[in-house]
This record gives sequence, structure tokens and C-alpha cells, in this order.
Amino acid sequence: MEREQWSSMAGFILASIGSAVGIGNIWRFPYVVGANGGGAFLIPYLISVLLFGLPLMILEFAIGRSAATSVVSTFQSIRQRFAFLGLAIVAVVTLILGYYLVIASWVLAYALFFVLNRPVEFGAFTDSYLPLIFYLISGLAVFVTVRSGVREGIERSSRFLIPILIVILLILVVVSLTEPGAGEGIRFYLSPDYSRLTDPTVWIAAFGQAFFSLSVGMGILLTYGSYLRGGSLFKSASIIAAADMLIAVLAGLMIFPLVFTAGLDPAAGVNLVFVTLPSAFADIQFGMLLGTLFFTMLFVAALTSAISMLEVPVATMIDTYGYSRRRATLLVFIAVMLIGLPSALSYTALDLAFFGTPVLDLADYVFGTIGLIVAGLILSVVGGWFVGRSRICAEIGGCGWQQTVYMALIRYCVPAVLLITLAGSFFLVTG
Ligand code: PHE
Repeated sequence: MEREQWSSMAGFILASIGSAVGIGNIWRFPYVVGANGGGAFLIPYLISVLLFGLPLMILEFAIGRSAATSVVSTFQSIRQRFAFLGLAIVAVVTLILGYYLVIASWVLAYALFFVLNRPVEFGAFTDSYLPLIFYLISGLAVFVTVRSGVREGIERSSRFLIPILIVILLILVVVSLTEPGAGEGIRFYLSPDYSRLTDPTVWIAAFGQAFFSLSVGMGILLTYGSYLRGGSLFKSASIIAAADMLIAVLAGLMIFPLVFTAGLDPAAGVNLVFVTLPSAFADIQFGMLLGTLFFTMLFVAALTSAISMLEVPVATMIDTYGYSRRRATLLVFIAVMLIGLPSALSYTALDLAFFGTPVLDLADYVFGTIGLIVAGLILSVVGGWFVGRSRICAEIGGCGWQQTVYMALIRYCVPAVLLITLAGSFFLVTG
């Protein structure tokens, strides 16, 4: 059977933006900025994206396009014995998807609560078994899309959903900036504190956020690149990274004005989105409508990212193990739902925890933080050192010195930064 392909470059770019723009942009980025030097954080963040994130993104696209197959088969084509490294990456992305879907399902539930004008308190919601129903619905939405194929499912949904996301975001930004707390919110968010730039944890936060937000190092972009023929990878990757950054910055411009207008403290983590923001929406004019828009947008962002994650194991089963797309999607869907179940149950009355840490938080740390960095390391080392400069450069183009700079970034800088981030992530938790 002929391999699937994107219908156009624009379709490929939109699908990649769908993968990159997720919960990380709208929820995590604003808080990370606020907590790490405000506007000054944009400097390490920009450096991380341009020098490390973007080159790794281009590398994944280049390898995927030249191999024209998904992660494990690509790794086998590089060295037969690297198959297990490819499998490790596929495992990490599948494990991340399990808990990512849980968060996506809470977002979906909140969107519905706001539509129905019936805000539910977070503790009361998670204590019930209602989250499990939303977990199933979110999983099914991702399943149905991926099952429909690259062009009919992934590309089509992105073409439709990404514009919706951008329009909602712009509406919310305009409304937020006219709220009374806008000045204070923006000051908290962006006032630069340059003294923080000498703090290594700020840099590690920037590296981690950049890799997570761009969805690099997970084999997703490699898989998406494998459905691409022709076109400049540098240009597409720059558009994707710019869109990702712009949407993240805009998300902060809408969140903090709302939080400060309602006179609330900007919290971190789960509380910001599921406790602080809902009570901010309850306080302001047209809050129910704004809440509906916000959670719809966040669900769209999460959905398109989850779709890209599911495509990685599905494509592997198709390309490496010869399954049909239908069968592969069904089997992976069932596996993912089971993998995410302990995370889904960890905030319910069942309180599934491991040494006092909810399974979901643990999964986020082990797979979403450590696993993600290790996967990125594998990709950058295998891609940078074993694929061969000529094969990569044939894909990326450019002139001699540009290729030399690029290869140096990929071979030395990206792995070094990933190692530092890995060490920092251990240290930040244990230290
Ligand atoms: N980039 C997505 C976000 O910002 C998350 C993600 C991470 C998606 C890893 C795929 C892989 O939320």
C-alpha cells in the first residue's frame, strides 16, 4: 500500500502546530514566565527555542522525511540494533499520552460545566467518578481522528481546529486586557527581573519548557516528517516554532489580567486552571461565556497534541509490524486507556498514590519530564552521530558553513543542554 502523505505543506504545518500548541502553552508557559523572572525569562526561552528546540525539530523532520517511515523502522534503518531505542521513544510518548488524556478530559468536563452554567468545585468533581466518563470521551475523540488517517483525520482536524483556537485566544486576550486588573496582571507576568538570569534554575526551566512546548524529541515530528515530500524544513520549522511561542505569550496576556481582576493569587499547576481561573470567571462579567471559550480553547489545544502522540505508536504498528491503520488504532487506543487509568483514578475518591504522590503527578515527572528528556537525548545522539551529515544536509539544504554550524548544534549543544536539563530535573526535585 502506498504511504500516506499530507495534502499540502500548509496541512503539515498546521498539524505540527496542533502538536506543539497544547496545555504547555496556555497553562504552563504563563506560570513558568511569572515565576522565573517575568519578561526577562523570554531571553533564555528565546535562546532555548532558537538554538536547541528548532535544530532538534528540523533534525526530526529531516530524518523522518528521508527514511519515509515511522520511529522504530527509521531507527532500524540507521542501525539494526537501534530498534530498541526507537521502541523506548515510542513507549515514552505512549505513557505520556495516558496521563495527558486525563488532564484533557478534565478540561473537556469544565468546558461543559461552563456551557451549562454549572461550575463544579474541582475537589467535588474529581471525587466523583464523572471524570472517568470524560476520560473515555476524550480518548474516543483522539481515537476516531487518528483512525481516519493522516490526511482525512489528523490534517483535516487541524485545519479546522487551529483557526478556531487562534480566534478564541484573540477574543479572550482583548477582553482580558480591558479588565480592571489588566495592568497588575501584566506587571506580574512580564516585568523583567534581570537579576534572575544568573540563576541556573531559570535556564533549566527555559530549556525544559522549550522542549516540552515544541513537542520535540518524542518521535512525533519524525513521524509527521515522514508523511512529507519536498519543501523547506527550515522555513516550516520556523513558522511552527514562532506560532508556538506567540500563542504561549498571548495566553499569558489573557490569564494574568483575569486572575488579578478577581483579586486572586496566581497559583501553580493544577490549581491555576481548575481552581483559580474558574473562580476568576465566576467573579467577572460574562464570566460563564469567557469560561466556556477558555476551556473549549484549552481542550482543542490538548486534543490536537494528543492526536499527534497517538499517531506515533499507531504509525509504528503500521510500518514496523504490518498492522492495518484500523487495527493498530484500536489496539493502541485500548492500551493507552488502560495505561492512563491509574492516573485518572489518582484524583478520584480512590486517591491512587505512590508514596503519597498521586499517580498522575508521578507520571508527569517520570514520563513527561525525565522520559521526555531521555527520549530527546536518544534522538539527538542517534540523529546527530549515526545518520551521517550528507543524508541530513540533503534534507535541510543551506550552504557549507550553515550546515557546519547546524551539525555542531545537533552533535554537541543539543545533547549537552539535554543532559544539563536532565541533571537539573533530578536536582530540582531531590534538592
Ligand atoms: N507540546 C505540547 C504542549 O505544549 C505537549 C506535548 C509534549 C505534546 C510532548 C506532545 C509531546 O502541551
